[in-house]
Amino acid sequence: MKKDAFFAKMDNLGLALTYDDVRLKSGYSETMPHEISIESKFSRNVPLKIPLISAAMDTVTEHRLATEMAFLGGLGVIHRNLTPERQAAEVVRVKNHLNARIEKPTCVYEDETIEQLINKRDEEELTFHSFPVLDRENRLVGIITKNDFDFCDQPSITVKEAMTTQVIKSHPETTIAEAYDMMFKNKKKLLPLVDKEGFVQGLYVFSDVQRVITGTSPNCNTDPKGQLRVAAAIGTGEKALERARHLIKANVDVLVIDTAHGDSKPVFETLKAIKRTHSRIDVVVGNISEGPSARRLIDAGADGIKIGQGPGSICTTRIIAGIGSPQVSAVYQCSKAIRGSGIPLCADGGVRYSGDITIGIGAGADSVMMGSMLAGTLESPGSKIFLNGRQWKYYRGMGSLSAMLSSRSSRERYRQKDIEKLIPEGVEGMVPYKGKLNDVLVQYIGGLRSGMGYVGAADIDELHEKADFHRISASGRAESHPHNIQITKETPNYPGQSGSQK
Ligand code: XMP
Repeated sequence: MKKDAFFAKMDNLGLALTYDDVRLKSGYSETMPHEISIESKFSRNVPLKIPLISAAMDTVTEHRLATEMAFLGGLGVIHRNLTPERQAAEVVRVKNHLNARIEKPTCVYEDETIEQLINKRDEEELTFHSFPVLDRENRLVGIITKNDFDFCDQPSITVKEAMTTQVIKSHPETTIAEAYDMMFKNKKKLLPLVDKEGFVQGLYVFSDVQRVITGTSPNCNTDPKGQLRVAAAIGTGEKALERARHLIKANVDVLVIDTAHGDSKPVFETLKAIKRTHSRIDVVVGNISEGPSARRLIDAGADGIKIGQGPGSICTTRIIAGIGSPQVSAVYQCSKAIRGSGIPLCADGGVRYSGDITIGIGAGADSVMMGSMLAGTLESPGSKIFLNGRQWKYYRGMGSLSAMLSSRSSRERYRQKDIEKLIPEGVEGMVPYKGKLNDVLVQYIGGLRSGMGYVGAADIDELHEKADFHRISASGRAESHPHNIQITKETPNYPGQSGSQK
C-alpha cells in the first residue's frame, strides 16, 4: 500500500503522528463525491451505511442519539454508567423505534370481560387498544380493537361478544412489505402472524408499518428484522457478563468491551467468556494503540477493535499516565498488524474536523468514533446551557472526577474500582450547541466524501488502498487553516475561534 513506505520512514525515526501532522495526497480521480460509497463495518457482522459511531459516554449516547445515529446510517454505543436494566431499556427503545413487527404481542382471552380488559390496560399502563383474542388453548379466534371498545356500553360482556371475527392473518415469515400490501388492500389495521397450529407468532400494526414503509430511508442502519441497530458498552468480569446477558436479551446488535486498556487480562477473559456463552453476538474490544495488541485481540476472537489511548478531547491519560501513541500512527500500526483478517477497526477519539475522518479511515480505520463532535447536538443527553451569549452542552470524560464519582463503571474503565483516592484521566466542560444531529452529520459526511473524491477513492476499500500521506510542518498546518482574515460569519463545518477547536 502507498502509505506503507511513509509510515515505515516515520517508524524508523521513532516518530508517531496524529491528525494535525498529516494531510492526504490528492490523486487522479474519476469519482464525484456523490457517487462514492461510504458503506463500511463496525464489526465482523455489523455493517454501517455511514462509517460514524457515537461514543459510549454519558454526555453523548443514550437512546435518543443512538436512534438518530442508526436512522442516519451509523451506530450509537449506549454508555454503561447506567444499571444493566436501564441500559437494556435504552437498547429496547432504539430497537423499538421502527417497531413494525411486534414479536410477542399482548393477547387477551375470549372469556375475559371488557371490564377486566380495561383494568388490565390501566394496570399494565398499555397505551394501545388492539389485541389478538385467543381461546383457552391459545389459538387465535378474533381481534378486539378501539372501535369494539368505543361501541361497547356493557363492560360486563365477554371479549368474545365484542370482538371482530373477520380477521386477516398471515404466516410468521411475512415481510413488512407483504404486510403493508395485505393491510392496505383489506383496509385492516392489524395483521396477526399465525403458525400452522393457529398460535400467534407476531403482529403487524398498520400505523407502524406505514411509518417504516413510507418514512424510513433506505439509508437507515437496520437489522434483518427492520429494527434500528444499536451497540452497548460493557466492562469486564462477572458484572460485565451479567450486563451482557441483559443487553443480549434486549436484542443489542453488538457489545463493546469499553476499557482504557484493551490489551489486559480481564478484557481477554471477558471476551472469551462472552464468546463461549454467546457465540452469535459480535464483540468489539478496546481501547488499544499498538499493532501487537490488535493481533492478540484478534487471536482471542474479537469481532472488531477500537483504537485510541488518549487522543480524545476530554482525555488526560497521556498527560497523567504518560502513555499512548498519537492517533494516526496508532490506527495505521493496528491496521497493518491485522491486515487480511477482515476484522474492522474503529478509530476512537481525537476527531476535530471532518477532514480528520478521511485521514483516520485513510490510515486504516473502517469507522470513526466521536464524542465531542456529537456531544453538542440536540439529541445528546442533557439540556442546553446559555452562557456568554451562546448555547452550549455539557460534555465530560468518562474518566473525569465527576463521572468516576457518580459511577462504578467509570472507575472500572480506568481500573480504579477499588481505589479510595481517585486519579482522574479526563476533564469536564462544555461544547458549543450544534443543533440537530442530521444537519451535523451532513457536514461530516460531506467532508469525508469530498476527501475521498480528492484521493480518487470510490469506496472505503479504495481509500485504504490509495491513501498516501504528507507529513506537514507547523507552517503547513497554519496555511491549512484560514489566515489573514477576521472571520465574520461562521460556516457550519468550521468552528473557528468561537468553537475553540483549533
Ligand atoms: P473525542 O475526542 O471524540 O473523544 O471527544 C471521545 C473518546 O474519548 C475516550 N474517553 C476518554 N479518554 N479519559 C480518557 O483518557 C476520559 O475521561 C475519557 N472519556 C472518554 C473514549 O474512548 C471516547 O470515545
